[in-house]
Amino acid sequence: MPYILQGKRITRKLNKMNKIQFTLTVALLSFIPATAFSAGNITAGQNKSAVCHACHGATGKSAQPIYPNLGGQQQSYLIRSLNGFRDGSRQNAIMNGFAANLSDADIADISAWYASQQGLTEITDK
Ligand code: HEC
Repeated sequence: MPYILQGKRITRKLNKMNKIQFTLTVALLSFIPATAFSAGNITAGQNKSAVCHACHGATGKSAQPIYPNLGGQQQSYLIRSLNGFRDGSRQNAIMNGFAANLSDADIADISAWYASQQGLTEITDK
């Protein structure tokens, strides 16, 4: 009997702990998107990406092998690449020019757009 009572008390204590932990986790998680990177607006990004379509395609599927596919790429990687082209830490004559005029919001939006598109669906041996 004492064991059962003790068990109940422990369970109650654990439940209380879980509630506190859960509340803390939710509170902490809600800060992550804001601090990691701006989420970006997909629709705005689609419009802003018009200048990129000639080379990278409207949905990020490039028609020419010299231009990389962007569709389905991780948003954080696209943001990192564009920041690199903009600040010159990644050098490419074409892309340095195109990234130069992009704001942080443009980069987040365009990256959100291409990340939301379908990437390659299969990998084949060449
Ligand atoms: C005239 C053609 C052209 C246009 C227009 C263009 N790009 Fe590029 N883009 C390139 C080329 C070429 C590369 C490969 C650069 C390299 O080798 O580092 C590239 C690379 C990239 C990469 C890196 C991809 C990777 O896998 O690392 C991103 C991201 C990118 N472009 C985004 C954009 C965005 C966003 C725009 C529009 C604002 C744009 N590009 C417009 C030609 C173009």
